[in-house]
Amino acid sequence: MTESRFAPRIFSGIKPSGGLTLGNYLGAIKRFVEAQDRGGAETIFCVVDLHAITVWQDPAELRAATREVAAGFLAAGIDPERSILFNQSRVSAHAELGWIFNCVARLGWMNRMTQFKEKAGKNAEAQSLGLYAYPSLMAADILLYHATHVPVGEDQKQHVELTRDIAGKFNHDYGVDFFPLPEPVIEGPAMRVMNLRDGTRKMSKSGESDMERINMTDDAATIAKKFQKARTDAAPLPATVAELEGRPEARNLVEIYAALAGITPQAVLDRHGGAGWGAFKPALAELAVETLSPVSREMARLMADPTEIDRLLARGAERARALAQPILERTFDIVGLVRGG
Ligand code: TYM
Repeated sequence: MTESRFAPRIFSGIKPSGGLTLGNYLGAIKRFVEAQDRGGAETIFCVVDLHAITVWQDPAELRAATREVAAGFLAAGIDPERSILFNQSRVSAHAELGWIFNCVARLGWMNRMTQFKEKAGKNAEAQSLGLYAYPSLMAADILLYHATHVPVGEDQKQHVELTRDIAGKFNHDYGVDFFPLPEPVIEGPAMRVMNLRDGTRKMSKSGESDMERINMTDDAATIAKKFQKARTDAAPLPATVAELEGRPEARNLVEIYAALAGITPQAVLDRHGGAGWGAFKPALAELAVETLSPVSREMARLMADPTEIDRLLARGAERARALAQPILERTFDIVGLVRGG
């Protein structure tokens, strides 16, 4: 971690808009657990429910997804004592700082956000104002804790860069050195897990077909079937990573294998180079089932007791609030919002 006057602090979040995918697990949660276990930095993880409602969510499904994402964190190894785990809406300072950042961020910056453009498509006029302002709330999530490092998948890089711009502009406009410029941490073989039916598109919770993603709640037979039916090209696995160039589906399956096994993509090819898909896909499915089933079993166990999940989230929110409140109050003072009396 680089030198800074700010203590190393890690913050990241996951949206409860539908269930967790293998992309969320490998690109985010698994790495969060590694960061927690490595020590040396405070770790704060958030189920970002206020982000989820930027597109319509059925209330009952939102509640269920919030608990499922929390269960995913816990089942994968986030320890609610060593890390802070909570849902965003319980700490109102996120929304308050989000508003202040809406007044710092420029429209030109928001117009460049590729995720908004992708999500809005040709129908931007019909999207919620919240979806457009979303990256500014994300900046608030991070900066409310003076977080210095933000582990995310590749798709969130631009939002963390915007967070740096917002922090920099705030500091400049008010002549302070108050907010750190957080660094995106994007590393490992699974920073961009792709869709199983189209290796040029990201695996996401909201894709049209369930066959294009692995859900953390899928059973062994479903996982095996999805990998079996995953799209590939006709050539066997190459001997080197360089030869995966121009073969997005092959690259994706090799990278998923690498991330699950905790080895490099080249090590996967050292082991399986020359093999056909008929041999590699079952090996991948077996590894996936072996790695994911303890996590999904534990998720199911935790989700059977939603009261306990809610209790843990409430306790996490209390700890989050204790860190956030002084930073929010100091921000109010800097901006000139009167709060004495
Ligand atoms: P979300 O909920 O879409 O995804 C949560 C995390 O999972 C990663 N991820 C992936 N990584 C690799 N391959 C994939 N196919 C894949 N799909 C998802 C994401 O990069 C992310 O790290 N805006 C954020 C949530 C957020 C946040 C924050 C993150 C809100 N506030 C503050 C960090 C810090 C989002 O929508 O992630």
